[in-house]
Amino acid sequence: MRTIAVINQKGGCGKTTVSINLSATLASKGFRTLLIDMDPQGHCAVGLAVPEEQIEKSIYDVLISNYSDSKTEFNHIVWQISQNYDLAPASIELAALEPQLAGQENREACLQKALAECEDKYEYVIIDCPPSVGILTFNALRASDEVIIPVETGYFALHGLGRELETLDVLKQQCDQDIKIRILANMYDVRTKLAREVFNELKMNFNAFMFDSPINFNTKLKEAASFGQPITEYDPVSKGMKDFMALVDEITENRSAQTIVKQQVESVTAQLDRISKSADDLIAESNKMIGQPATILQKPENSIEEKIDNFYGIRQKQGRVEFAVLYPKAQTVQLAGDFNNWKPENTPLLKSDPNGRWNIELELDGGVYHYRYVVDGRWQQDPYNNNVETNPYGELNSVLEVS
Ligand SMILES: Nc1ncnc2c1ncn2[C@@H]1O[C@H](COP(=O)(O)OP(=O)(O)OP(=O)(O)O)[C@@H](O)[C@H]1O
Ligand SMILES: [Mg+2]
Repeated sequence: MRTIAVINQKGGCGKTTVSINLSATLASKGFRTLLIDMDPQGHCAVGLAVPEEQIEKSIYDVLISNYSDSKTEFNHIVWQISQNYDLAPASIELAALEPQLAGQENREACLQKALAECEDKYEYVIIDCPPSVGILTFNALRASDEVIIPVETGYFALHGLGRELETLDVLKQQCDQDIKIRILANMYDVRTKLAREVFNELKMNFNAFMFDSPINFNTKLKEAASFGQPITEYDPVSKGMKDFMALVDEITENRSAQTIVKQQVESVTAQLDRISKSADDLIAESNKMIGQPATILQKPENSIEEKIDNFYGIRQKQGRVEFAVLYPKAQTVQLAGDFNNWKPENTPLLKSDPNGRWNIELELDGGVYHYRYVVDGRWQQDPYNNNVETNPYGELNSVLEVS
């Protein structure tokens, strides 16, 4: 059994996307694979269409059962996603694990202990971690042989990477364990000069730590998640799928991942500083050339992919708020929130283009609103809005602030 944690303290760099699709691709190649969601946000279940309201037991029960009389094992909590592919879902209770385990002995080894019991059942275990360092990430590291750090190939991502490697080194020393680390360039947009430069610099300096090929920015990966499917099912001929196949080849061929040691961490962070500075130079240079902010260089507005992408989410214009979301295969998409007494039937969205974009405009007074989409009868949070709050049912409501 090989256990791989997907870790980065930086939010939104693609941990869950990588975890879900790496697991699915491993499973599609015949490897018995378990995906463990260690993030209280529970995004793996959302991304794999496991109905949150029907999750009775989660990884929380497995971890806490080390300290209680009633034992919960993996086979009590896993959901079968497809052949060879099981998910151990998270729940919001996970957020309370840290205080609940305060002072308990071996509290960072709960996951490792539980996994030892399914050694023969799975060939690969992939662990999706939360964007923070705490008892959950610590448990994931302790249980893992390897770590994948997804990084965006944008400039800002580099600033977090040095800190991440330092943290991993500290954790490694505390755990007294060799962790093999690899950096995975994600959301690589080959069309932008900055992304190409950053990727080349990363490869030049950290070749030993890097996966050979990046995961490109691919709208299909976003769509797949919002439709509750891994890319293996949603679009097996997409570029996103090809990238995950290449990643799986690299992992299964076992091209050596590096064991990171303190001296290396220091030199890696020094090199990262240098790269960040050269990215600064690059931005300054491009500003001089075109007299515009570099973000425009990073995201050309004339590509079809970007055009589609730009329209998702919520945006405010002249007292109205547009809600736009992509559900290519849905029959009905409705909106429920405190602005319509949570009655989805009052607010159906219209399918506004053949790609499966649905939208509606509402007149809303200033204030804070909570809402969820209802897609073919299934309630879910807005996949394009990271601003969420837990509701009394333990699910996530999307939050909108109208100014
Ligand atoms: N290669 C990619 N191409 C296109 N979109 C991507 C790609 N990777 C991730 N995304 C999108 O970026 C957003 C953030 O990704 P994801 O949720 O996987 O990040 P995360 O690191 O798990 O976030 P968090 O820290 O909140 O757990 C999502 O909307 C996802 O669909
Ligand atoms: Mg995540």
